[in-house]
Amino acid sequence: MTDIDASHIDLLDLDRFTEGVPHEWFTWLRQNDPVHFHEEPDGPGFWVITRYDDVMACNRDAGTFSSAAARGGVVGLAERPASDDEAPSAAGNLMLFMDPPDHTRYRRLVNRGFTPRMIGRMEENIRGLTTTILDGVLPRGESDFVVDVAAELPLEVIAELIGVPHEDRHKIFDWSNRMIGADDPEYAVAQEALFEAQVEMFMYAQGLAEKHRQKPDDDIITALLSAEVDGESLSDMDFNLFFLLLSVAGNETTRNAISHGMNAFLENPDQYALLASDPERHIKGAVEEILRWASPVLYFRRNATRDLELRGRTIHEGDKISIWYISANRDEDHFDDPFTFDITRDPNPHIAFGGGGPHFCLGAQLARMEIQVLFEELVARVPRIEAVGPPDRLRSNFIGGIKHLPVRFAS
Ligand code: HEM
Repeated sequence: MTDIDASHIDLLDLDRFTEGVPHEWFTWLRQNDPVHFHEEPDGPGFWVITRYDDVMACNRDAGTFSSAAARGGVVGLAERPASDDEAPSAAGNLMLFMDPPDHTRYRRLVNRGFTPRMIGRMEENIRGLTTTILDGVLPRGESDFVVDVAAELPLEVIAELIGVPHEDRHKIFDWSNRMIGADDPEYAVAQEALFEAQVEMFMYAQGLAEKHRQKPDDDIITALLSAEVDGESLSDMDFNLFFLLLSVAGNETTRNAISHGMNAFLENPDQYALLASDPERHIKGAVEEILRWASPVLYFRRNATRDLELRGRTIHEGDKISIWYISANRDEDHFDDPFTFDITRDPNPHIAFGGGGPHFCLGAQLARMEIQVLFEELVARVPRIEAVGPPDRLRSNFIGGIKHLPVRFAS
């Protein structure tokens, strides 16, 4: 650790992330420069916030740390904020890119679809989908765990959640895949293909909305379409955008939580054996530790709405601020032995779903349920799993991703 200094740290070097998260940089930053100013070649630079308490504070103060698209939004470190004369992008209408009070109104509407009852009702379906996936893969003995299992389940679950009939699921899978992982050469698609996927998805969402309006059901789509807050309801455009947000927000994140969880078990077989020895006792702890360990959303960005002081540094209005969940979840002041994967860790106050505040992950309970059901069903069927090759990591500083993970299921 002694040979690191700020000049080595380049969070824009995406190739570095294909070797794994640069934890040594984050550890150095937490200890030496927790509110770090990061230069950027063709832009104004950005702040890097790495300590747990500071990430929480930024997350909870939406008035100072804005998510609004017009101020620069929440994704991308190197882009400049859009200037006033540029056309606003679709991002401006996604709730993730809104501030209160617009965000509050929208969130209250979509919350109607994400009640504990609605999510609780999904468990049986999730177990069914998991069983089908595992029954198809385990008899082969070997598998690419990411492609065959970790990527499959969240796609199926989102399709189920939004009521896409089986015969149309491949469309959702294709659109979602085209919209994610754009920085990685394996997934990169042309801008037009991305745009096309969005348009096709919008048209599909529109059709689905019409069907549900004509024949309301006791499902999330109907709940969303009929939700009203203060006399307002979701417009068609709001609904289509929400459909798109769910397909993106709920897929890659959950996929990578599962992939990192599997990888952590491969590296710590004692923890897999412990879980298998008493799943009922350990599964909840395992889910939380997987989330802390994976922190699939590495950072989100905010934009300062005023000048402020943070740990003695002056942040100016308009500055870009990146808040690093992956670093907060390894903060030595909040986690004992943060680099040990320990499914019995208690308490485990990780902030993989955000540090509280208005944007706290809407799908947190659903994601937890998916991870839980998958590992419950896996340990019930396979006593031991071995790595056949190293994980192949996503080229991204935003999503901590694994693209391929070859494994062997021991009998
Ligand atoms: C392990 C899986 C997941 C992780 C790590 C994750 C992480 C996050 C994070 C960090 C945020 C932003 C929190 C903030 O800014 O305070 C967020 C927001 C969001 N997530 Fe998730 N997420 C996951 C799964 C899901 C799923 C399964 C869904 C939907 C089915 C979902 C839907 C959303 C939505 C709609 C938002 C925006 C909420 C808002 O702006 O108010 N996420 N998620």
